[in-house]
Amino acid sequence: MKSVSIKNNNIYATDPETEGLIESFDLNMAPPMEEPMRQFYYIAKVRKYVDELANKLGRRPRACSVAFGCQMNARDSEKILGILKAVGYEEWESEDAEFVIYNTCTVRDNADQRVYGRIGYAGGLKKANPNMKIAVCGCMMQENTAIEKIKKSYRQVDLIFGTHNLYKFAELLATMFESDRMVIDIWKEGTDIVEDLPVSRKYAFKSGVNITFGCNNFCTYCIVPYVRGRERSRNPREILREVEKLAADGVKEVMLLGQNVNSYGTGLPDDERISFAELIREVAHVEGIKRVRFMTPHPKDLSDELIQVIKEEPVIARHIHLPLQSGSSEILRRMNRKYTKEAYLDLALKIRRELPDCAITTDIIVGFPGETAGDVDDTLDVISKVAFDNAFTFIYSKRSGTPAANMEDQVPEDVVKEQFNRVLSLVQETARTRSTLWQDMDAEVLVEGVNEQDDSLMTGRMSNNMLVHFPASSDMIGSFVKVHLDECKGFYYMGHIVE
Ligand code: 5AD
Ligand code: SF4
Repeated sequence: MKSVSIKNNNIYATDPETEGLIESFDLNMAPPMEEPMRQFYYIAKVRKYVDELANKLGRRPRACSVAFGCQMNARDSEKILGILKAVGYEEWESEDAEFVIYNTCTVRDNADQRVYGRIGYAGGLKKANPNMKIAVCGCMMQENTAIEKIKKSYRQVDLIFGTHNLYKFAELLATMFESDRMVIDIWKEGTDIVEDLPVSRKYAFKSGVNITFGCNNFCTYCIVPYVRGRERSRNPREILREVEKLAADGVKEVMLLGQNVNSYGTGLPDDERISFAELIREVAHVEGIKRVRFMTPHPKDLSDELIQVIKEEPVIARHIHLPLQSGSSEILRRMNRKYTKEAYLDLALKIRRELPDCAITTDIIVGFPGETAGDVDDTLDVISKVAFDNAFTFIYSKRSGTPAANMEDQVPEDVVKEQFNRVLSLVQETARTRSTLWQDMDAEVLVEGVNEQDDSLMTGRMSNNMLVHFPASSDMIGSFVKVHLDECKGFYYMGHIVE
C-alpha cells in the first residue's frame, strides 16, 4: 500500500482511516479477492467514473436513495448511501438526480405497486437527464416475476440487485458504469456477513444495528423467508464493536434489528453463542448509549430472561413490539405462528404485570384465508384484554410462492373490509385510552427534530415510543431532556421541558 495524504475538505465524507485505505489501491492491479477489501478497491475505481461525470456537469453528481418498507430496509439504504457518498455523489433528497436507487419491499402487494409507480416516474426524469442512472434493489428483486416485469416494461433501469449482494454495491456500480446494458445480479441465498463498509446515517444521534439477517419461521402468509433467506446471526463481538463505534460517533440510541431477534445466537459457534437477553444487556452497558430498542421479537420465543433484563436495565426502552397477527388459535395454527391465543395473552399480560410502564404494540392481519367473523372476535378479545398502545392493522395480501396463497378459502374483499374496520376501531380506542395514562408525568425524551407543522416546537420520543411536542430550540436535537406531559392529544402529547 502506498502512503497517503488525507485531504482536509474530504468530499467523500469517509473517515481518515477509510480514506487512506481507498486511496492506497493501485487500480492497475487486479481487485483483491477478500471482502470487504475488494469493495474498497471498487470504491476507488468508481470514483474515477463519478469524477468524469462531475467534470462534465461542472458539479458533483447527485444521488437520491429511496427506501420502502421496514427498519431493515431503512438501515440497508444507509449502507447504500454510504457507498454513494464514498464514490463521490452528493446526497440529494429528490429524484431529480444523476443516480436514483429504490430499495424495495415486497411484504404486501401495495408496496410492489408503489415501487413500479416510482420507477415509471424516474424513467420520465431520465428522458430529460441523459446522465441519470436508475437502480432497483431489495426484497422485491428476489422475485423472478418482478425482474421479468422490469426487463420487459421498465427498460430505463440500469442496475438491479437483491438482498444478499448489497455489500457488493460498489462493485456493481463499477459494472454498471462499464456496461451499456441493464446489469442484473441476484443471488438465491445469503453467504457471509460482510461488515465495515461506509454507512451514511439518516440521524446523527440514533442508528439501527443488524443482529440477525433472514428468517426461518415460514409464517404461511409471509414472503420474507423467501427473499431474505435463512436466518444468520452476527457475531456478538462484531455487534458490540459496531455499537461502541457508533457511541464514539455521537449515537445515543440504537435499535437492534432482526426478523426474529429472540432467536439471536442460533447458528453461531458454541464458544460465541449468547442469548438475545445477554446481548441486549451488553449493548445497554456500552458507554454513551442511553437508549436501546429492538425490533422485532416473535411471541413464540420471548423469554422470561429478556423481560427480567428489560426490568433491570433502564437504558432498554419501555416498548415491546409483539406481533399478534391473529387472536384466533385456529388461524394462528394455519399461519404457522407456533403459539395459541392463550399463550399470547399469557405473555402479553405477564409483560403488563412485570413492566407496567412498557408499551406493547402489535401487527394484526385481517382477512387471512379461512378467517371467519368468529376468528375476528378472538382478535378483538385479545386487543381489549391486552389494550395495545398502538397497532398496525394490515389487510391480508396474497404473496405468490407462500403456502397461504394456495389456500382455498380466500376471504372476499368486502368481508375483509368490514372485519378490518371492526379491528381498526377497537385498536384506536385502546391506544387512545392507554395514551392518557402518562398525563401530567415527566418523561425522558430524545429530541429527534423540528416539529413538521410549527418550527418553534421540537418533536421528541419517549422511552415507550410515544411522541411529544414542546417548545425548544433546534440545538437540542439529539439530546435527552425531561419533558412534562401537559396534554394528551390522542396518540401524542404536548409538553414543556422541565430540565
Ligand atoms: N399480508 C398482510 N400483511 C403481512 N405482513 C407480512 N406479510 C403479510 C401479508 N402477506 C405483516 C405482518 C408483519 C408485518 C411486518 O407485515 O403483520 O408482522
Ligand atoms: Fe415473516 Fe413470520 Fe419471519 Fe416475521 S417471523 S419475517 S412474519 S415469516
